[in-house]
Amino acid sequence: MYRYLTGSITFRVYTVLLIVSLTVLCFIILKNNFINDNSALYNRQPMRVLNPADGVEIISKNEDITSPRNLSKRMKTILYWTMMFKSKNFYFGDGDIFLDCPIFSCLGTNDRNYQPVENFDAILFHGPELNYKDLPKKRSPHQRYIFMNSETQIYHPIPNHPTFNNFFNWTITYRRDADIMRPYGVVKIIKTNEIIPPYLPAVWKNLTDTSVPKEIDLIVQNKTKMAAWFVSNCFTSSRRENVVKRLQKYMDIDIYGKCGKLECPREIETECYEKLNDNYFFYLSFENSLCRDYLTEKVFRVLEYNVIPVVYGSADYSTFLPPDSYINARDFASLEELAKFLKALVKDTQRYLSYFKWKSHYYIDTSKRYINCQLCEALHNNNEIRNQTYKDIYRWWTIGSGCESGPKL
Ligand SMILES: *[C@@H]1O[C@H](CO)[C@@H](O)[C@H](O)[C@H]1NC(C)=O
Ligand SMILES: *[C@@H]1O[C@H](CO)[C@@H](O)[C@H](O)[C@H]1NC(C)=O
Ligand SMILES: *[C@@H]1O[C@H](CO)[C@@H](O)[C@H](O)[C@H]1NC(C)=O
Ligand SMILES: *[C@@H]1O[C@H](CO)[C@@H](O)[C@H](O)[C@H]1NC(C)=O
Ligand SMILES: *[C@@H]1O[C@H](CO)[C@@H](O)[C@H](O)[C@H]1NC(C)=O
Repeated sequence: MYRYLTGSITFRVYTVLLIVSLTVLCFIILKNNFINDNSALYNRQPMRVLNPADGVEIISKNEDITSPRNLSKRMKTILYWTMMFKSKNFYFGDGDIFLDCPIFSCLGTNDRNYQPVENFDAILFHGPELNYKDLPKKRSPHQRYIFMNSETQIYHPIPNHPTFNNFFNWTITYRRDADIMRPYGVVKIIKTNEIIPPYLPAVWKNLTDTSVPKEIDLIVQNKTKMAAWFVSNCFTSSRRENVVKRLQKYMDIDIYGKCGKLECPREIETECYEKLNDNYFFYLSFENSLCRDYLTEKVFRVLEYNVIPVVYGSADYSTFLPPDSYINARDFASLEELAKFLKALVKDTQRYLSYFKWKSHYYIDTSKRYINCQLCEALHNNNEIRNQTYKDIYRWWTIGSGCESGPKL
């Protein structure tokens, strides 16, 4: 880095030019290959949060939205075309799933006969369950066909069939470049319940002078065990099993589940997490795939407890999580270095506790409820209609996911 900075001016100019042209080239390739953009308003930012000044009608909660007169005018209808695994409602929930939203005049159903299929405002398809033989027979131009997928392309591949070229208008995935990003968890500010949007560069509060709550201190004093890992998939694309095996040479790791000697069944998951909370200093939040933006409940669930997650993945964790809330294994030159660091942290209680300072200002929400609101709002946002089509969803989903194979340590 130092040498680079002090290199000759010409060399620096060439380097900058090269980087700029490569970036522009990448952008052009991405844009032309993946998406047909029919709207001048279109950009790759996820749906903006709505503003009444944009011309959106916000219905007050006292108003009777079930009144037929207002219903036909304003209600946006969403059809769940496929299942999403065992869920008929794409895990959006049962009952009035939009009730808590600022804009809530939306309705979701899996009943294909609820109304003529071309009248729905949005039709949702779950990537792995796409079937070109079972698609709506009629389509109208105002409809949004939405592609949804919450695992990586490695474990949830989609069919590469020409039917799905120029088929989808929007995407809902864990990726930041989806139209609606559906992360496994979000960070919220305790005082305001405000979400730190994971699709924007994060600005984290400086918590240097904050103290750690006494309860956490007491829990930490009782901890005796180094690290735990709950795991059921023993052979993964990230080769995390290989990383853990090598890491075990340098530190104790208790492996629970199919791939280890210990047991804590899924049925009593909450108890397992409590055990983790009471006994362990670290948890290995190692993802099964190394893909851009892919960090899962493996890290978010643990952050809800008082254990430091050691993460291994390909997301830029610093944009998703507050500083000093996790330890990134890939920041270390070797596994030996990582183990050395973790052991030193356990011996230095004050330093270990500093990894919980973020909890005095933020908390984690894994409910995913706010996606419902984002979808409903996006469908109502007439001023910012995104008329767009994914030209080649297969490429977008596969090459566009930025996955690498492991191990990367
Ligand atoms: C329908 O909406 C209008 C305004 O948009 C409102 O004045 C009226 O009260 C609503 N009707 C019912 C029955 O809610
Ligand atoms: C998008 O399409 C709808 C109809 O499908 C049309 O009413 C609207 O004007 C279009 N918006 C833009 C920005 O092109
Ligand atoms: C955070 O605040 C402390 C003092 O309160 C200061 O020393 C430190 O440089 C700040 N860190 C950043 C990253 O701004
Ligand atoms: C710490 O352990 C002791 C003895 O097992 C127990 O009584 C106490 O409740 C524990 N404290 C916390 C904060 O868990
Ligand atoms: C959605 O995509 C289809 C197929 O490319 C297109 O005909 C339609 O205009 C798009 N709709 C909107 C609202 O963008």
